[in-house]
Amino acid sequence: MKKWFAVIGDPIAQSKSPEMHNTWFDLDGFDASYIPIRVKPEDLEKAINSLNLLGVSGFNVTIPHKTTIIPFLDEIDETAKLMGAVNTVVRLKNGHLKGYNTDGVGFVRSLEEKVGNELRNQPVLMIGAGGAARGIAFALKNQGYENITVTNRTLSKARDLIDALGSGKVITNEEASQMLNKYKIIIQTTSAGMNYGEFSLPFSIDRMSKDAIASDIVYNPLVTPFLQHAKEIGATVVTGVGMFVHQGAIAYEHWLGQYPDTKLMVEKLTEQLN
Ligand code: ATR
Repeated sequence: MKKWFAVIGDPIAQSKSPEMHNTWFDLDGFDASYIPIRVKPEDLEKAINSLNLLGVSGFNVTIPHKTTIIPFLDEIDETAKLMGAVNTVVRLKNGHLKGYNTDGVGFVRSLEEKVGNELRNQPVLMIGAGGAARGIAFALKNQGYENITVTNRTLSKARDLIDALGSGKVITNEEASQMLNKYKIIIQTTSAGMNYGEFSLPFSIDRMSKDAIASDIVYNPLVTPFLQHAKEIGATVVTGVGMFVHQGAIAYEHWLGQYPDTKLMVEKLTEQLN
């Protein structure tokens, strides 16, 4: 029987997930389709019950539901529990809904696809301590990254993250700006990084090393102000497209048991967004 999948969020029209998954279904020969559904926050529980009733095989969850969905699921994977956020739901054979978080691991796969896995002992600086940063920090640590520092406008949130992680350092934005050249991998996870113009970044990144690897989790715009600067000084740039594609690929693997063609998808979306 035909399988169907969805992504729920608000807004949802801009999502590239339907196009990505439908392309993979075609390539892999699955009789399946994937649709975007706008779900307002107050309708979340009803929407989830409806998806389940109508036999969805699985779905993705995006802003603003990643945290609020948790009480409505039957099971939560350990990593998603630690992160306090779910972006992927699988409908199990018994009808239970199980939540996973594939964002953090998606980020690490994207990073290592670009720069390999030999930098795990290098100093990493994470800018931001929100939900996205949390997922990435846990995934980096699980993958063996030993030297993680977090900076955030609100320092207490950076501390909470490092406490939850059980290792790592916290520095102020001011310190991060001063010592930026010490970091090999710099990951921009704040929503401030999305905007061009005066308030585009929490602090000056003039001291970024040209040997650094600069990565942003935002993929639209493809080249954020942070990445633009990195590009100009000759640093290595990892755009947010890879993370988006790999988080989707890991979800796809949960649903269908095989990993789709991520390389082709990164190329296709990069071309589209350029
Ligand atoms: P997400 O789940 O997408 O990570 P979030 O949990 O709202 O979103 O986190 C947003 C991150 O961007 C936080 O680190 C936030 O800093 P605060 O903890 O100080 O709020 C950061 N951020 C958002 N706007 C910012 C701004 N104008 N300047 C600096 N940091 C900003």
